Amino acid sequence: AKANIGVVGMAVMGSNLARNLASRDGNTVAIYNRSVEKAHAVAQAHPEANFIVGESVQDFADKLAKPRTAIIMVKAGGPTDAVINQLVEVFEPGDIIVDGGNALFTDTIRREKAVSETGIHFVGAGISGGEEGALNGPSIMPGGPAESYETLGPILSSIAAVAEGEPCVTHVGTDGAGHFVKMIHNGIEYADMQLIAEAYDLLRNVAGLSADEIADVFTEWNTGELESYLIEITAEVLRQKDAETGKPLVDVILDAAGSKGTGVWTVQTALGLGVPVSGIAEAVFARAVSSKPAQRAAAADLPGPAQAVAIEDRAAFIEDVRQALYASKIVAYSQGFDAIIEGAKEYDWDIKKGDIAKIWRAGCIIRAQFLNRITEAYAQDNDLVVLLAAPYFTDAVTKAEQAWRRVVVKAVESGIPSPAFSSSLAYYDGLRAERLPAALVQGQRDFFGAHTYRRIDKEGTFHTLWSGDRSEVSAQDTH
Ligand code: 6PG
Repeated sequence: AKANIGVVGMAVMGSNLARNLASRDGNTVAIYNRSVEKAHAVAQAHPEANFIVGESVQDFADKLAKPRTAIIMVKAGGPTDAVINQLVEVFEPGDIIVDGGNALFTDTIRREKAVSETGIHFVGAGISGGEEGALNGPSIMPGGPAESYETLGPILSSIAAVAEGEPCVTHVGTDGAGHFVKMIHNGIEYADMQLIAEAYDLLRNVAGLSADEIADVFTEWNTGELESYLIEITAEVLRQKDAETGKPLVDVILDAAGSKGTGVWTVQTALGLGVPVSGIAEAVFARAVSSKPAQRAAAADLPGPAQAVAIEDRAAFIEDVRQALYASKIVAYSQGFDAIIEGAKEYDWDIKKGDIAKIWRAGCIIRAQFLNRITEAYAQDNDLVVLLAAPYFTDAVTKAEQAWRRVVVKAVESGIPSPAFSSSLAYYDGLRAERLPAALVQGQRDFFGAHTYRRIDKEGTFHTLWSGDRSEVSAQDTH
């Protein structure tokens, strides 16, 4: 029998996804890897999967039933292009190539254009959930032509995570829409992780809790509105002891955070779209600061508070930190969805925000209770101008607001960096401000560059003759 689906790339994500596919009724899975021995090794290690091994790209294609469907799970960039080119050689019009890697969405747009000219369909699909998700049920964000989703949808639905009875997969939009949304997912992931890390830092160094005690706090938080995969695994990381020293593992891990670049892409893209994803940006920058040992050493003796400020009521402070974390998290998601809205406008995608929140409820790294609230918000009003303004979130932020400020003040007074907490609060205050000093910026721009300004009390654009008699003229007269 021929295989109804194939997977290319037998590193851990690819082999796990192939095993997931093979475990579902009705699937026969062909696998291919550049070094064929690796594919044979995977097939031998998992006899229950009954994998059909492609000995070459041609053989792989021959072993797939038509129309052929293959999912590529190799490194983003050059390796992905190489595999696509090979498959295009041996596939036929009507076949479907799916890129399940973390591709940059503009690459996906380019690839879809090129591949579709051959009559072969190309689908860029974001897949989240790490190794475990790939094996047991990821959240899947496919883009590409709606037509291919008719074939692909049932296969992807069968392997996706399930949230409240619904598979965590939806056709996100055409060409690069799926990888765009996966990129935003990763940006939010960065913000979520940084916010949790800042909460940890404050609990450790202001409240004076031990790593174990903080693990207990997170476990407790995980029973409420903060319930999420990232909070859950944070407690586990904090409880882990180093075998050599007996210390908490977190105390012996070098404090330099790495990244593979998807957070950077989110921020670069958002800057281009003019969307203030400040929470995500601060998370990316915080990793960058941590990874600059020479600069940190050079600055190590700069003045700052000798110790954290005292807190009178530890329990109250812990609750304040929880509130600050929740409010900042709401801001990060609100900003992430803003980027989705602007991206959809720019690239002409019809993205259903509520459906995105739904498919993030399980399987992916940012899975959380909270996503249900976002789903509800967009179900009530798909044209919501900003998530923060949805009734549930307005309520949550109203409850948290005072605590949020107290936490940022304590962090500043203690000299503990809280870039994501404080920038989220600054964004919140910026949005709700009745008047912003942007008026002054406009005045400055008009002064040095005659960039003109509008007035609050009448229509039109204006310019002040700064180097003349300083009278105001209508902008039309100056150009
Ligand atoms: C996921 C993750 C996954 C990967 C990140 C890690 O959704 O399953 O986001 O894609 O773990 O790329 O990113 P960094 O290495 O940049 O932290």
